[in-house]
Amino acid sequence: MASLSRFHKIALISLGAVGGGFVYYNINSINNENEKKFNAYNSWTTNYTPSVKWDTNWDHRAPESLVRVKRDTEADDNKINEKLEAAKSRAIRHLILIRHGQYHVDKPSDKERILTDLGRVQADLTGKRLASLGIKWDLLVRSTMTRAQETASIIARHLDPQIPTKDCQLLEEGAPIPPEPPVGHWKPEKSQFFQDNARIEAAFRKYFHRAPPEQEKDSYTLLVCHANVIRFFVCKALQFPPEGWLRISLNHGSITWISINPNGSVILRSLGDTGHMDPEFITSRNVK
Ligand SMILES: *[C@@H]1O[C@H](CO)[C@@H](O)[C@H](O)[C@H]1NC(C)=O
Repeated sequence: MASLSRFHKIALISLGAVGGGFVYYNINSINNENEKKFNAYNSWTTNYTPSVKWDTNWDHRAPESLVRVKRDTEADDNKINEKLEAAKSRAIRHLILIRHGQYHVDKPSDKERILTDLGRVQADLTGKRLASLGIKWDLLVRSTMTRAQETASIIARHLDPQIPTKDCQLLEEGAPIPPEPPVGHWKPEKSQFFQDNARIEAAFRKYFHRAPPEQEKDSYTLLVCHANVIRFFVCKALQFPPEGWLRISLNHGSITWISINPNGSVILRSLGDTGHMDPEFITSRNVK
């Protein structure tokens, strides 16, 4: 937020035509005192202040935050503008997050915690659904846990075998942050949160960011991972309080779709969607 002194002029113009709303022009200069920008904002109440402002540079890729040049002359201004232009994102990054299918939780090791028959059906249905979207996938990333690997390989049978595929340990299931409100039946050790938070946060920073300037076309990345990880990502990406992640429920094999625009704005297009499954195949709890 620019300091008040940078707002050269604020004019409030009442528009009776839009139901008593206001349009105000905020004339400020971000990079160049001579190049004034005119922004018009609509406000539907006269005194509404957001409780938390959207952080436009949440991924540290806003061009203005990347370009640092000494500005003395007009030539410097031109150089700055060129660098700003070169640092600009141009394409949308679509991240499609899949929760693994239902699995057996009663086994001691991850290797033995394989999908149930129903879990395999769910993965298959989700694979068909993803194939039917007709998307050219840029990357398939799989959590290294067995249930995610199985789910991803069932899904991959429906997709182009040429899709670049990666395994990622950062995406493994865990305890991202103590939930608020706390829940009685799930109380990991504090040390578990301490470890997992850093890892899952690292995963978030790895995959959630606007497209790099050299990316010309919109990209579609498929991430097959886990409910806690996906729920935490959704809260983080939307800049909602991350401790609210456990208020969200995700079905097995569900599709969560987040798009990151070139200006860093984020859209949640679907959350835990299993509309492609008949009701008898839909589950969210695992089998003991
Ligand atoms: C950011 O980009 C999106 C999509 O292009 C657009 O809808 C939105 O209005 C933009 N937001 C701002 C603050 O410019």
